[in-house]
Amino acid sequence: MRLSPEGLIVVLTGAGISAESGLRTFRDQDGLWYEFRIEEVATPEAFARDPAKVLDFYNQRRRGLLAPEVRPNAAHLALARLERSWPGGVLVVTQNVDDLHERAGSRRVLHMHGELLKARCLACGAVCEWRRDLDLESRCPACGTVGRMRPHIVWFGEIPFHLEDIEEALARCTLFVAVGTSAEVYPAAGFVDRVKALGRACTVELNLEPSAKSHCFDDRRYGPATRVVPAFVEELLAEIGGSREQQGSAVRDRRSRGPDR
Ligand code: OAD
Repeated sequence: MRLSPEGLIVVLTGAGISAESGLRTFRDQDGLWYEFRIEEVATPEAFARDPAKVLDFYNQRRRGLLAPEVRPNAAHLALARLERSWPGGVLVVTQNVDDLHERAGSRRVLHMHGELLKARCLACGAVCEWRRDLDLESRCPACGTVGRMRPHIVWFGEIPFHLEDIEEALARCTLFVAVGTSAEVYPAAGFVDRVKALGRACTVELNLEPSAKSHCFDDRRYGPATRVVPAFVEELLAEIGGSREQQGSAVRDRRSRGPDR
């Protein structure tokens, strides 16, 4: 693949990239949507009907994410390394609500489906860092209102975040890579079509198995994210001749940021 080093790379990630960090995906064999019904835990209507049940679902997810054994894996780390090394810039657009890209060192990350470690006040609209359980008595740190805090998550039927910025990046990028997503949920599943329609960028799918949109990509690599993503990043960096030099700086960066990065 011949790419200009000056071109922007957009990487769309999904639950598959975090699977080997110990977080469950949604639609695989042990996926969350086989245990829980979307209509009962991930819609505004569910929250209106039974807020405690919805909060409990996200409390479980938040506790899981904060478990000490859950850490960024080699795929998250490889994308952070790519961002540090690629002259044209890298934007990660993630459907994931975990913070593993940030913990790995990625700086340009757009969470289109929200963030588990944030909560939003329905009274004043403030969005706050939130690492403990949410309950019906949770108080907004900004306005003091009790009982109006909800997870800062985009539920089914709600509009994803950052769509304008994403659209702008899709129009500008020269490489679009989808990692670990089943391509079952729109608008993210349609990003590859958008990029293809613009005709400027190369498109690559990296996934455990072909997704619902695999036929739309120019190139496809299948296998666990911890294997295919680092190999793909290595290939990209080798192309611009920066691999060895950048590897050195990646190792230094990682050391200075501590064990989790
Ligand atoms: P899915 O659970 O739908 O798909 C996960 C994808 O990751 C599948 O294609 C798997 O084959 C792949 N996969 C699993 N393990 C992998 C591994 N170790 N390495 C690489 N790939 C692996 O998750 P998403 O596509 O992210 O939205 O789901 C999209 C949205 O649907 C989520 O953001 C969530 C969900 O409902 C909301 O909750 C709003």
